[in-house]
Amino acid sequence: MELSKIKERINFLVESINEHNRRYYEQNAPTISDYEFDMLLKELEQLEGLYPEYIRSDSPTSKVGSDLASDGKSPFKQYPHKYPMLSLANSYNIGELRDFDARVRKSTSENFTYNCELKFDGTGINLLYRNGILVRALTRGDGTQGDDVLRNIKTIKSIPARLSDSGNIHYPPEFEIRGEIYMPFEQFDKLNAQKELNQETLFANPRNAAAGSLKILDPDVVAQRGLQCVLYHLIAPQNVSTEHSQALKIASEWGLPISEYSKVCKDIEEVIEYLMMWDIKRKELPFPTDGMVVKVNQFALQSALGFTAKTPRWAVAYKFKPEQALTKIESIDYQVGRTGAITPVANLTPVLLSGTTIKRATLHNADQMELLDIHLGDWVYIEKGGEIIPKITAVERSKREPYAKKAIFPKTCPICGSLLYKDAEQAKYFCPNTNHCPPQIQGKFIHFCSRKALNINLGEVAIEQMWERGYIHRLEDLYNLSDLQLLSLDKWKEKSVENFRNSLEKSYQVPFSRVLFGLGIRNIGETTAKNLAKRFGSVDALKNAKREELIAIDDVGETLADCIIDYFASEENIATVEALKKAGLQFESHDNLVVSNELAGMTIMITGTYSIPRDTMKHYIESHGGKVGTSVTSSTTYLLAGDKAGDAKLKKAEKLGIPIISEEEFYRIAASPATSANEPVAKLHRDEKNDNEELTLF
Ligand code: IVH
Repeated sequence: MELSKIKERINFLVESINEHNRRYYEQNAPTISDYEFDMLLKELEQLEGLYPEYIRSDSPTSKVGSDLASDGKSPFKQYPHKYPMLSLANSYNIGELRDFDARVRKSTSENFTYNCELKFDGTGINLLYRNGILVRALTRGDGTQGDDVLRNIKTIKSIPARLSDSGNIHYPPEFEIRGEIYMPFEQFDKLNAQKELNQETLFANPRNAAAGSLKILDPDVVAQRGLQCVLYHLIAPQNVSTEHSQALKIASEWGLPISEYSKVCKDIEEVIEYLMMWDIKRKELPFPTDGMVVKVNQFALQSALGFTAKTPRWAVAYKFKPEQALTKIESIDYQVGRTGAITPVANLTPVLLSGTTIKRATLHNADQMELLDIHLGDWVYIEKGGEIIPKITAVERSKREPYAKKAIFPKTCPICGSLLYKDAEQAKYFCPNTNHCPPQIQGKFIHFCSRKALNINLGEVAIEQMWERGYIHRLEDLYNLSDLQLLSLDKWKEKSVENFRNSLEKSYQVPFSRVLFGLGIRNIGETTAKNLAKRFGSVDALKNAKREELIAIDDVGETLADCIIDYFASEENIATVEALKKAGLQFESHDNLVVSNELAGMTIMITGTYSIPRDTMKHYIESHGGKVGTSVTSSTTYLLAGDKAGDAKLKKAEKLGIPIISEEEFYRIAASPATSANEPVAKLHRDEKNDNEELTLF
């Protein structure tokens, strides 16, 4: 591969892995399977090993994923972990396990054993006991600090609030113990069934359900989630034993929940035998597992082996291959989504897979159907990915009926009959009838009312009814509904009308970026909407933007530019925007205040802590026209070094000859003496009538 291609691939891997980490840990809504994620990470590790000069400072290979809210607005109190909460090195085959064993044996000539444990698939927790009382329960967070979810943890019955002192060995006055909070399959199914009934978004898997439940604010709701706990890592300052397995046994005498699924093995062969047995037997367990953990059992050898930045050298996870099931396709539905995308979904003969009964699986798109050569009535292998609907991964050809008919992707929309067209980039077919195809219109309303858009109190069922009764057709109709119409909806009483009207009232204050996102322009997600709102400042400026102007914006490519142009080319869309404007929604940005242009054209990399919070510093740079860098490169203008600045970044800047400046020097460069981040001296706004985007002072 050419060097530029390698750098590009590394950039792609870093960015996509960081995004998947955010989806997994922060939003509890992954979109790829753990296996797919691990393969991306492995590829990045290999490339970084071969080309260390391209290692980025934000590379996920040197830090663990974080469950802390990235906007810094966690409702929980955060505390630092006394000892970092690390992850485990993963292996997917026996060869890698033997390599691990060889590395361990190389560092000792003494006899040792392995403790082989089931790997529970939930979310990590760190409990702190002082004088036998549970006083803190931290999530893993970013590995160095976590959210204190003690109130929620106290709702889990198996975790003692006070330890028992009837055992042979007394508990230390203060110690921490780590483990996993998980959700058994039965509870998970119940929870998702309830969510389906309430028309809420489902959890993709029990792990996400457990992690999401731990972050709920009301402990009474958490108590109903049926969470369970297993503890597997005692961290006592004065070790109660010389062996890990023994230490856990002692902890169980204090009343702590310890796994019953583990075994002390004399060598790696015994470990392999034990984990092969569990790879089959785990399918009968009532809770989710994703592998086995193999740990050196002797604390002395553990200490000698130590840690890497991310993982201990004395333990390794052996991940089970994603489970597969074989079942028959009964029929194929072609679903029409909010954007008009057509997704083929197979209805299957119900089959049990990883603890849940599967009735449907996605076939993704026409290309995938072609690739798999799907025929009606085929027997297929299904696997669970990161998403709720499992996917079909292969066809069992030997079971195909002799005259089975090939499944043909429709040419027209199964709902409105319009001729479909294919989007070259997404390999998807779309129905072009955006403003009249019922699922697309209903989807548009659902999206418009969603929390991240206008946050209007209206569920999917009500939207469907309003649409069926002809009350709503275009978005603006929501603002013209009569009480009589609202009260005619199923189960709607005065209170529901009041809630709905209050949320409409609040929608007038929703910032332009979210209104823009709510319009449902194809391919405009939350972040793009924010960028566009910031860049153009008003819907009119965006509407009048030229194609080249749009493409010139950072994350706007040709496809997206065309989507924006297509949207504003429709008279119906323009009419909707005008009507919503008239109704009182925000179609101008008020948050893109530009304080000065002093930093225009500069890319500033920040490191360490400052006298103001980091986010305020970022905002400061942007509001003075600058860009905040993601890593030190030759195009970085300054490295702004605060207290405890990162060593690697300083070294890199020195090497590349990038000026390193202090916070004080930075303010001198950025602003006139009277300017401060919180009190802009002058607000510059885009002049609406001014097409050439000049900034005018007011
Ligand atoms: S030991 C430094 N033991 O798996 C020791 N972890 O993929 C790290 N996990 O972060 C943990 N079962 O949340 C350990 N028996 C077990 C486990 C286990 C599940 C989780 C844990 C860890 C993750 C790594």
